[in-house]
Amino acid sequence: MSKRYINMTLPEKVELAVREVENQFYLTNDYLIKASEYFEKSMDEGLKAPKQSREHMPMIPTFVTKIPNGKEQGIYLAADLGGTNFRVCSIDLKGDHTFELKQNKYKIPLDLMKGVKADELFQFLAIKIQAFLNEHHDDVANNKTKDPLKLGFTFSFPVEQTALDKGTLIRWTKGFDIPDTVDRDIVELLQANLTVLEVNVKVVALANDTVGTLLSRAYQNDPSKTNANTVIGCIFGTGTNGAYYETIENIPKLKNPPKDCKGMVINTEWGSFDNTLQILPNTTFDEIVDKETANKGYHLFEKRISGMFLGEILRVTLLNLFERGLIFQELYKERGGSLPHRITEPWLLDSEVLSYIQIDDSTDLKMSELILKNVLRLPTTRDERIVIQRLTRAIARRAAQLSAIPLATIVKRVQDQYKDDDRDFEIGCDGSVVEFYPGFRDAIMESIEVINPLKGSPKKIYLKIAKDGSGVGAALCATTA
Ligand code: GLC
Repeated sequence: MSKRYINMTLPEKVELAVREVENQFYLTNDYLIKASEYFEKSMDEGLKAPKQSREHMPMIPTFVTKIPNGKEQGIYLAADLGGTNFRVCSIDLKGDHTFELKQNKYKIPLDLMKGVKADELFQFLAIKIQAFLNEHHDDVANNKTKDPLKLGFTFSFPVEQTALDKGTLIRWTKGFDIPDTVDRDIVELLQANLTVLEVNVKVVALANDTVGTLLSRAYQNDPSKTNANTVIGCIFGTGTNGAYYETIENIPKLKNPPKDCKGMVINTEWGSFDNTLQILPNTTFDEIVDKETANKGYHLFEKRISGMFLGEILRVTLLNLFERGLIFQELYKERGGSLPHRITEPWLLDSEVLSYIQIDDSTDLKMSELILKNVLRLPTTRDERIVIQRLTRAIARRAAQLSAIPLATIVKRVQDQYKDDDRDFEIGCDGSVVEFYPGFRDAIMESIEVINPLKGSPKKIYLKIAKDGSGVGAALCATTA
């Protein structure tokens, strides 16, 4: 990520403190190489461990046993719950790497994300699917079709999957907290609520968004044109996670694999890589952020990388400097002993704000001044903005470097599956951070090069933005039912 310092000297005391914090977020090349080795070990342990536990990366078999080749056809429904929005789409797969998609997006009301019963949330989802059909597919809505329309449900939370259409929630992440959903079958919950509404839809596949991203990119990728195989589907957005195809002999915990299946897509849930902090960098700021979350002690890798957390890490870092008397002192006095609530309350500093600050090269960081004032109601001095920009860059750089660890490691691991062709490797990725955060992809690629997973091979690695993963991908999962 580029750094442009325009004579940005700070008072010595502040400079020393900022440097010290920057150092805490700094990762060396050696670290990345070691962390990649540890990631590979964690993958194997997760693929072995018969039971889910905090100590192991979940490495969940998905019962998706093949990667699409672009020839799949038909009309399918997809529903997607993964963060603050619920998306319903219908997808017409044309069988030539292309598709047509209709979709509606519905905001999940905050009061349905926690403190309610599971059925209240799932009834809301079923009602929205019905509303979508009323608008786009009135034949299905009015029960004029004989066979139910097949639906692939992208549910982007850790799920213990036992069949393509069966899976129980392990735990909520990303701000959801509805305790009576845990250990219950997600497909059943949705299907029951659709049946009550007499909607002629059958939920045939449950998929994680990363599985969807992998399948959707593989469908759209035509290797004869790109000369690349799609090997990972991943998300760097509100949360982070990835999926890839593993050979069956490497999944010892899968006791009864489907007949004749040579391999299976694994949902790694890498957000939970190293929950026991054997190797992850752990600053006091990371500790504070973890304590503020509903899933404390879990998904610690995600909490250093994804969009939900970058702003929060910056916020607690800034508050620490404030408490040490280094920034916001005048403001505090002027306001009679307080700071604006958007900086004192958790979760109100969006990573989008960081993405503007990251690349601000205006004189005295005037653009950042405006944004901080408008979005956070936070007036700042020039020196404070310099501090904020340097910390933003340190936090985002660490996030991008960490993101490279699973990507490089998985490419290294799967390369043998492709030893008989000379194609490059592409990684399908989706999510606001990887798509929009300035310099994030370049920084990931730099760190992948440091880890150098394909030592000695002429093959290359590309990051490809894969849109509509959770819609098209879920439909593709449904085609395998
Ligand atoms: C969280 C979820 C995971 C999902 C990811 C990206 O890490 O646990 O299932 O894939 O966010 O949305």
